[in-house]
Amino acid sequence: MQIFRTKTIAQDDFCDTGLKKCLTAFDLAFLGIGAIIGTGIFVLTGIAAATQSGPAVVLSFVIAGFACAFAALAYSELAAAVGGCGSAYGYSYAAFGELVAWIIGWDLILEYGVATAAVANGWSGYFNNALTAVGIGLPEALTKAPSLGGVVNLPAVGIVLMLMVLLVIGVRQSTKINTVMVFVKLTAIAVFIGVAMFNVNPENWSPFMPFGWSGSSPEGKPVGVFAGAAMVFFAYVGFDAVSTAAEEAKNPQRDVPIGIISSLVVCTLIYIVVSGLLTGIVPYTQLNVPSPVAHSLQLLGINWASALVATGVIAGLTTVMLVLYYGLTRVMFAMSRDGLLSPFFANVHARTQTPVRVIVLCGLLIATIAGFIPLGELAELVNIGTLAAFVLVCLGVIMLRITQPRLHRPFKNPLNPFFPLLGAASCGALMAFLPAMTWLRFAVWLAIGLIVYFSYSMHHSKLARKNP
Ligand code: ALA
Repeated sequence: MQIFRTKTIAQDDFCDTGLKKCLTAFDLAFLGIGAIIGTGIFVLTGIAAATQSGPAVVLSFVIAGFACAFAALAYSELAAAVGGCGSAYGYSYAAFGELVAWIIGWDLILEYGVATAAVANGWSGYFNNALTAVGIGLPEALTKAPSLGGVVNLPAVGIVLMLMVLLVIGVRQSTKINTVMVFVKLTAIAVFIGVAMFNVNPENWSPFMPFGWSGSSPEGKPVGVFAGAAMVFFAYVGFDAVSTAAEEAKNPQRDVPIGIISSLVVCTLIYIVVSGLLTGIVPYTQLNVPSPVAHSLQLLGINWASALVATGVIAGLTTVMLVLYYGLTRVMFAMSRDGLLSPFFANVHARTQTPVRVIVLCGLLIATIAGFIPLGELAELVNIGTLAAFVLVCLGVIMLRITQPRLHRPFKNPLNPFFPLLGAASCGALMAFLPAMTWLRFAVWLAIGLIVYFSYSMHHSKLARKNP
């Protein structure tokens, strides 16, 4: 049946974009760190600490990192074996066939699109904090979504529209800009760590686990360390972006696994230190604010450090959005090239040489979402979609070992199928700690995806036309 037809891994037309192969393992690790560190650590840590985990948000980061580590190993094996084809969408086409590839691709559209809106919300919090510092802060009505008592989150809408224009005129994330931005972001973190470590009050860590391991809030939302892990998982979203750059890597089979795993290790260590210090310098109850890291330094009265950190965060979050937004257009481009989405999306503008239609359409949608839905809900939706993709990628490793046992695998998961199974189980378990509303939204998104697949994509698939 067509929906189970898989792509052969050696198929060149799958991924040949003619891009220059110039990225080293170091560049890839930096690309990963550029895409990973963002709203998760700078904003969600505060929300999770105040409402779900308390100071034990550190443990939430460890648990989420643990699930990601297995997924990263699975990504590494597939990226190394499938080489230039990159992205979970490409791997699943080879491992499971068209229908699952479609579901993952549809899922990635959700992940990258909604994550851009979520990070725009985080950006807005720090931006307005900076405006307030110079006395021109915006009124609450213009910085909050309606469900939080505002009218629209205007800065979030504004930054998405600005990025849209940048992407249309062809300013794409260059490795050089990325490297500079990663340094800016790491400097902001270093300033925070340097200042915070001398201001810890151990009493703030007590009670350490006020919400326990798991439970329910009075409104019926999951709370506790595991629910916190399902929330801060957002902080790790983006390491898979390294695999989408496989086409531009000098030696993808060696360098992509190194890039993925080393960026994940660096970020996990940073998250543990930062979240530990953040809850050590102020009571966790005071962290449910739009810019908790800068806010905590203000509470200590160290305003220069707060301003420095906020500036670094504003710059750093801009690159995260650029990588995610660019990733979105790239996934839609690939799906359109395969015939699963309308050729409308693969159209490249003659003058700017960018896929203007897809950039503008996505930009308008993302800006609307960013303006009217609050960060927490957006992050949970991203997490459920990404975790579902990770589960499938882990299972894809096992499936490909069975269906294509002789495939050259420069990087292999140890103890197969134990590690990929642990990855699928731990990511699946984190999904279980997300709110019922998030599950409902995800189900609606998948249902729309299936309708599109069976009514359009299945009949326009290039693979189906080649092998009728
Ligand atoms: N991991 C990215 C962030 O935290 C998406 O902003």
